[in-house]
Amino acid sequence: HPAIALPRDLYGAARRNSAGLDLADEDTLAMLAAAVRDNRARDWSTPGAGAPREIRNPADRRDLVGTAPDATPAEVEAALAAATAAAPAWAAMPAAARADLLRRAADALEAARLPLVALLVREAGKTLPNAIGEVREAADFLRYYAAGAEAMPEVPPLGPVACISPWNFPLAIFLGQVAAALAAGNTVLAKPAEETPLVAAAAVRLLHEAGLPRAALHLLPGAGEVGAALVGDARVQGVVFTGSTAVARLINAQLAGRLTADGQPVPLIAETGGINAMVVDSSALAEQVVADVLASAFDSAGQRCSALRILCVQEEAADRLLAMLRGAMRELAVGDPARIETDVGPVITEAARDDILGHVAGMRGLGFAVEQVAAPDGCFVPPTLIEVGRIADVGREVFGPVLHVLRYRREGLDRLLAEIAAGGHALTFGLHTRLDATAAHVLARVPAGNCYVNRNIIGATVGVQPFGGSGLSGTGPKAGGPLYLARLKARPVALSVV
Ligand code: SER
Repeated sequence: HPAIALPRDLYGAARRNSAGLDLADEDTLAMLAAAVRDNRARDWSTPGAGAPREIRNPADRRDLVGTAPDATPAEVEAALAAATAAAPAWAAMPAAARADLLRRAADALEAARLPLVALLVREAGKTLPNAIGEVREAADFLRYYAAGAEAMPEVPPLGPVACISPWNFPLAIFLGQVAAALAAGNTVLAKPAEETPLVAAAAVRLLHEAGLPRAALHLLPGAGEVGAALVGDARVQGVVFTGSTAVARLINAQLAGRLTADGQPVPLIAETGGINAMVVDSSALAEQVVADVLASAFDSAGQRCSALRILCVQEEAADRLLAMLRGAMRELAVGDPARIETDVGPVITEAARDDILGHVAGMRGLGFAVEQVAAPDGCFVPPTLIEVGRIADVGREVFGPVLHVLRYRREGLDRLLAEIAAGGHALTFGLHTRLDATAAHVLARVPAGNCYVNRNIIGATVGVQPFGGSGLSGTGPKAGGPLYLARLKARPVALSVV
């Protein structure tokens, strides 16, 4: 097997993440407001033979963003045939040429930033800062995997790869998966989440317009059946999936029944959930903790797999810290994500809202103290605090703005850390302490893909903080890290990161 030592930072000295916008600038804000207004005048509907699915703004169900037909079995078959036929030519293209195409796509994405931001606001209920961050992350993925393609040894790609992505990052995770599979030399069948097919379609159009051969990338919107049809098809040589642990296990089971054309197990990269904790000891800086907890638990209305679910505060600091946190929570503005004043937008659907509120009601029924701030009617969930006694009380990943809080005593720290580890998820973890010895002690005992110390625990930066977990949280390799592309090759690639 070819072996190669990759530099830890694939960009080397030239690394440059996509730039943001200055949200303190009045002209920029006016431009964003105009972009959202203009967006309503544009029809984002996509063509297709299937029954059209109506996509409505989660913050305002009267706002029809467009319609997107689910891919029909005939369309899935045609895409599979075309992606299979196109695989040798795409694989034969020099890596530098594939990388150039992806970089051109990143430039095109940034040039189309305003309509994409507005579409993310309307289709996915993203706040303006979240939507801007998402376009930046998508551009970063394209450039990072372009650099990765050039750094890889000449190992043949897999062939057609299925990419199945979630609604919570309908542009960044969608394009991250697609960019990686394409960069490694595979053709792609991309199944976006049924809630958010329109921004995925806009991204695919941009990639094709940037020169990507049409046959190399096929968009197949729809529900779980489309994904299952792809995973079950013998022509599909690899799967990249982000979503629930339950679905990842189903995919794994389905893939276990066959081998790739090269006689290898069909690779699956799965990124799933987490019941992420943060430990705050009595030496932590309370003001910093409060800001970081608000971001970690309530940004994106808690709809990030990285989001904070359980805040563990050392007893001696808890009363003061939780009083500050409650006060700060009351200041959160929940509402229309198109307004710059909004901190917390809607959750994705009524069903998601009911599921989250069902958990809160269940916890209340069990006798746990629940506090909620104000939120409008509709697809909104008020930021919520629930005091629990043990890690296991939380029960499951609740994908919304619900933060569980527990108090621990100094002598109970190791038991707490063992309880966190015993949950079986290992995605993100946060620690606030000003004691180096505590940091070393805690970090040695908690398995998590991404550990953050004295900061928030969301928003991993491509190429800087490779993102992903293990155990119930996913298979690895980490997205936006140097090992990702190797999993998308036909044969093992021996890589070391130096
Ligand atoms: N990558 C995102 C984050 O770090 C989660 O999917 O928040």
